[in-house]
Amino acid sequence: MQLGTMNLRARLSPIIKAARLRRALWVRAIDAAGLLRMAEGRARLWTRLVYRRELHQTAPYTWLNRYPALFDLAAELEPDARRILSFGCSTGEELVSLRGRFAHAEIVGAEINPRSRAIAQHRVAADAQTRVIPPESITGSFDLVFALSVLQRDPRGLKNEMEAKHLAARYPFARFDAGVRGLVACLRPGGFLIVANTLYRVEDSSVAVELEPIVGSPGMNRVQLTPRGRRLAAAAAARTVFRRI
Ligand SMILES: C[S@@+](CC[C@H](N)C(=O)[O-])C[C@H]1O[C@@H](n2cnc3c(N)ncnc32)[C@H](O)[C@@H]1O
Repeated sequence: MQLGTMNLRARLSPIIKAARLRRALWVRAIDAAGLLRMAEGRARLWTRLVYRRELHQTAPYTWLNRYPALFDLAAELEPDARRILSFGCSTGEELVSLRGRFAHAEIVGAEINPRSRAIAQHRVAADAQTRVIPPESITGSFDLVFALSVLQRDPRGLKNEMEAKHLAARYPFARFDAGVRGLVACLRPGGFLIVANTLYRVEDSSVAVELEPIVGSPGMNRVQLTPRGRRLAAAAAARTVFRRI
């Protein structure tokens, strides 16, 4: 009996995977039903419905000190940063990690998912110099802007050109480009943009001319796409830290 169930699962798995990549309606309905069972899932669905056009990554996964090399490099480049933006701060662990490196900075976490935002607000409630806001409330300019694992969509499907094409349809280059443009607009000249896990290269964005890649910043450790949605050769590895000229 157990063997029969395992066989069925093994047979169904590639069918479900292909349907998920095609965004087939029946798989979306099953996924949505799964999300509806959890408070976090309901918040993600709501965010997808309300902010369809400006939403980047939908998953809230995060943890404390997730990118030590990037945090340390930022602290080395801008030790006296006064204003820091963590765009897509999720439940706020990133804000705590940044506070560990920047004792005196004003830290602003911008988060589009209202449930994650509420958890983040609670996490940093005792820190008078840290605020959590919705992205539309971002104002002023920053010395450092972090967008870590935000400018992308679920990167599971990138094993071949067909999977890349489906992912690019769900998260087109234009959405990424608008996101990067918005973040660069928040940076003071000389300030730094720090990214991780982007689906496209910042170097291909329409504001790349305003940015100088920091030689020696960690390479982007994932498969990326060209603006037309083709997979990039590993040799075209992108950088993660940029100075606004
Ligand atoms: C995978 S989490 C990354 C959390 C954290 N930066 C990290 O790397 O650990 C991505 C977060 O970006 C948020 N997000 C997606 N689009 C956004 C937008 N337009 N403005 C602000 N936050 C956004 C999601 O709600 C999610 O919480």
